[in-house]
Amino acid sequence: YITRPNVRIVEFDVPQRQTADGTYVQSVDTWHGEIARIYGELISALAYDGRGAFLVWGDPSLYDSTIRIIERARQETGLDFEYGVVPGITSIQALAASHKIPVNLVGKPVEITTGRRLARDGLQGDSTIVMLDGEQAFAKIEDPEAEIFWGAYLGTKDEIIRSGRLGDVAAEIQALRSEARQRHGWIMDIYLLRKGPGFRGIAGPFHHALPRRRRSCKKCSEG
Ligand SMILES: C[S@@+](CC[C@H](N)C(=O)[O-])C[C@H]1O[C@@H](n2cnc3c(N)ncnc32)[C@H](O)[C@@H]1O
Repeated sequence: YITRPNVRIVEFDVPQRQTADGTYVQSVDTWHGEIARIYGELISALAYDGRGAFLVWGDPSLYDSTIRIIERARQETGLDFEYGVVPGITSIQALAASHKIPVNLVGKPVEITTGRRLARDGLQGDSTIVMLDGEQAFAKIEDPEAEIFWGAYLGTKDEIIRSGRLGDVAAEIQALRSEARQRHGWIMDIYLLRKGPGFRGIAGPFHHALPRRRRSCKKCSEG
């Protein structure tokens, strides 16, 4: 996407968040303070009227603290700078596009949560997007009729997607995830869980696309 010549790419090491002392919020606050100091150094290194950009996964509005940290760098360093936000494609949009699905059921809300919270609270909403899930919390959900739409490395050449009834595909997704993680050395994945009955009721006869000459859908017994 970079079209201008003479663009310099600057990498920096993100400090490790220390989890030993204090609460989660305290540890994040301290960690953000350390990153803000680094942001301040990077911004100070620009020429007086120079421009820089921070590259962010997806869109900075979703489970990302780049904007918070830039504001903190401004407050704590006293540096004078302006910035704008270029909207990105979130992993939610990439997931929905790859599965060719809308995220919400008609007229229903969508919950966006983390794997840790899903494991703690269980599946509550009709449509639940789960991000930052290192523990594969979907496998602990006791609702085999729920539907899962899963994707990893979305938008890259390594993208993998799977979908189906949770009871049918949970084990396959777990195996795929652990194999891919081992092969690449890292993984980023996200999924949508939908509660079964609401989904079927609303999807009705449009649930499965039918080949032109077949009269009924084998999966949902509807024409
Ligand atoms: C720190 S959050 C960043 C979210 C990002 N700002 C967004 O708009 O999607 C990281 C989490 O986002 C999800 N994620 C981000 N990029 C992804 C991708 N390309 N494929 C699958 N999941 C992704 C994963 O759930 C990952 O654990």
